Amino acid sequence: MAFCSMFCCAKGLDRDRGKKQPTWRIFSLKELHSATNNFNYDNKLGEGGFGSVYWGQLWDGSQIAVKRLKVWSNKAEMEFAVEVEILARVRHDNLLSLRGYCAEGQERLIVYDYMPNLSLLSHLHGQHSSESLLDWTRRMNIIIGSAEGITYLHHHATPHIIHRDIKASNVLLDSEFRARVADFGFAKFIPDGATHVTTRVKGTLGYLAPEYAMLGKASESCDVYSFGILLLEIASGKKPLEKLNATTKRSITDWALPLACERKFNEVADPRLNGKCVEEELKRVVLVALICAQNQPEKRPTMLEVLELLKGESKEKLAELESNELFKSPKAGEYNDGTSLAEDSSDFMSEEKDTKEEVKDVKEEITSENAHGV
Ligand SMILES: Nc1ncnc2c1ncn2[C@@H]1O[C@H](COP(=O)(O)OP(=O)(O)OP(=O)(O)O)[C@@H](O)[C@H]1O
Ligand SMILES: [Mg+2]
Repeated sequence: MAFCSMFCCAKGLDRDRGKKQPTWRIFSLKELHSATNNFNYDNKLGEGGFGSVYWGQLWDGSQIAVKRLKVWSNKAEMEFAVEVEILARVRHDNLLSLRGYCAEGQERLIVYDYMPNLSLLSHLHGQHSSESLLDWTRRMNIIIGSAEGITYLHHHATPHIIHRDIKASNVLLDSEFRARVADFGFAKFIPDGATHVTTRVKGTLGYLAPEYAMLGKASESCDVYSFGILLLEIASGKKPLEKLNATTKRSITDWALPLACERKFNEVADPRLNGKCVEEELKRVVLVALICAQNQPEKRPTMLEVLELLKGESKEKLAELESNELFKSPKAGEYNDGTSLAEDSSDFMSEEKDTKEEVKDVKEEITSENAHGV
């Protein structure tokens, strides 16, 4: 089976590096049934495009999250193999690593460490949102941590990896609220030297870079765009798309850009912070976010540059960022190329379609949803 040979390969890699312990193991279905109380509904953490995720506890007391493929098909087998291969290779403090997998009969399951503070989504807009557990220090650590994780995928993993589905539910939080970027199921390896791969569109509307949504061009800069949206979401507590009325939606960038141009950074901050944030850091986050979420991919920074800017390591580069043409008072709702883009984040594009079909769908959706027109 395809993924078995990949695992042997991953195992071999570890042996080559002189690691004594394998970084993963194979679980039996029986063990996972007993850990999750037979995949009991009460154990369910949530459901995504790939399947359902269950909380579980192993015989040694350790807590796990088990992702169970909802439909078994050739397509799902491919995604499973892709996720498993990538996760088995990639190890970084800010990436959710694989603990093991199970493949028995028709069942395909992936086992991760359980992240006790769940996802960023649950704190920003979900079950924990009213508890205000994310103070500014935590938010800043999550921002830097997730940037480190994505930078690792783009610049240090071999071969480089595009995530393709960066969003709040895919940033998990450990017991110390450190960020762990999860879900590499949509990622594909980029061959060395290639600038982008044209591929079927996968991802979540609201975070999708326009060239990816419309032309299916996936590259690292698509992740940079999604990360920019995520930064604004973390700073403001707002969703990527806000419903203004029955027919109009406003993207988070269209809302934040005029405020940034007028240097009203405090108005971008999440009201739940009660004004308690480091102003310089907030300004940096907002400016970097907007530079990342520009419509033209060639104008976006790399994740290495993003990380440097977020950490405020270079005063010169920060000054350059602040004087970028993007922040020279555009009309509200317009980006620097005169376009405005609103997408419908309520729909998850879980179905793989042909790129052409997807382009048509997305264009139609944008035209009908966008009050300004494209
Ligand atoms: N290791 C984990 N620890 C705790 N919660 C988890 C873990 N893995 C996933 N979850 C949560 O389970 C839910 C379902 O996750 P899943 O990845 O299937 O869907 P998603 O992130 O909403 O969408 P996508 O399929 O695009 O990733 C999410 O709320 C996610 O944050
Ligand atoms: Mg996920």
